[in-house]
Amino acid sequence: MLRRDELENTWELYGLRENPYSIQAIYVLGGIIPIESFVGREEQVSRLKRIVGSKGGSRTLVYGDIGVGKTSFVNVVRAQAYHRGFFTPFKEIIVVENWEIDDFIANTLSAIYASCKLLGDKKPLQPKTYSKLENLFEIAREEKDVGVSVAGFGGNYSVRKNTHGSPSTMSLIAFFQEVITEINKHTGKDVIIHYNNLELMPEKNLKRLFDNLRDFFQTPNVHFIFVGNLTVFSSMQSIPRFSSILTDSPIKIENLSIEEIKTILKIRMEKMRISEKITYTVPHTDSSLQSLYELYKGNIRNILNSLSTAVLSKTTERAIRLDEFSLCTTLRSILEDRYLSNLPNRARDVLLEVVKHDEITNKSISDKLHIARSNVSGYLKDLEKEGCVHVRRKNGKDKFWSAQPQMKWYILKFDEDRAKQRSLREF
Ligand SMILES: Nc1ncnc2c1ncn2[C@@H]1O[C@H](COP(=O)(O)OP(=O)(O)OP(=O)(O)O)[C@@H](O)[C@H]1O
Ligand SMILES: [Mg+2]
Repeated sequence: MLRRDELENTWELYGLRENPYSIQAIYVLGGIIPIESFVGREEQVSRLKRIVGSKGGSRTLVYGDIGVGKTSFVNVVRAQAYHRGFFTPFKEIIVVENWEIDDFIANTLSAIYASCKLLGDKKPLQPKTYSKLENLFEIAREEKDVGVSVAGFGGNYSVRKNTHGSPSTMSLIAFFQEVITEINKHTGKDVIIHYNNLELMPEKNLKRLFDNLRDFFQTPNVHFIFVGNLTVFSSMQSIPRFSSILTDSPIKIENLSIEEIKTILKIRMEKMRISEKITYTVPHTDSSLQSLYELYKGNIRNILNSLSTAVLSKTTERAIRLDEFSLCTTLRSILEDRYLSNLPNRARDVLLEVVKHDEITNKSISDKLHIARSNVSGYLKDLEKEGCVHVRRKNGKDKFWSAQPQMKWYILKFDEDRAKQRSLREF
């Protein structure tokens, strides 16, 4: 049988330039995922736009479950603001676990610097201030002993160590204010700063940081947007000093509806088609999308990931339409080959019990499977190492375990009735 070169771009067989199921977020300046494919969230978009549009500054928390579309949501609002003349560092600032106060401020400055650099002549800063900013950062691959690490946009920047050591927190804040004032003057608009994935920072550090950065976050004419998952939301609630500085109640991002996901995929494919003259093939069917939507209760990231894995694995020499049945069998056999076949029987039983629940404690598993708790605990640790399960949350001593998204392929259902109805309809 003729087999394609596996290094060829599979998506070309479908008449598409790229993977329409990519899980990349939508970026401010555009990227693989077309910004036009952003769908829904009208109410949240208008709320956030109103917040950043009201001059003076603000602090907003945007939160939601993993992979629902938080980053894309904030980026879309920032992109609109950017096109209306606002300055915003293009890339969201990804918070790092062990950041200290100075790292936080320095990384904010570094993100501003990186975007100014990209803007060339259009940067909203005087040459003098820009070179001050430039002087603060240098590419320091060899220099490890710098006071503050800057891992933000572009990576590899470090605050240059001067003869007095690193700049003090006070001087960093003062310089930040100077930069902001100048951008405000130049653009006539406020600045928007987006900190992403606050869940990467342990609660203790988050608490200390927000306690100490209260004044920084009150800088006039800056809109600070903090993004985090559900645990960040609960941590923030327990930091009264933080919740009291929030401008408005937090914005919650929920799962999209199936119709919205259908629209997203349609727009993505239209935008990614190789040519207007060539038709393209949609690799999935409505019913395969429906079954994944049900499995993941609407989580778009997991749905896209599953479709991408299944289509890539099933496509050999020509485009296919992955129906519910082939989707199920393909994903289940991938799961079996990649994960389950390597597991000892008892560990496998434990995993398959975890898969059935949104979350489950060691004790419930032990009760259900009649395995001693200490043994369950050992299996769970092994499964965690293999990337099959993770601790979703803790409550006192109790750990609540969840299966990693791919493990759910085990319970992906093939709805025969629905398939029959469909084939009748299509007939
Ligand atoms: N409203 C939307 N319209 C179109 N596409 C979306 C929308 N929301 C999310 N997506 C797509 O879904 C995927 C996940 O979105 P995103 O990365 O923004 O999620 P997230 O909540 O920030 O994830 P994480 O918890 O990992 O930070 C991306 O591929 C993104 O392009
Ligand atoms: Mg994100």
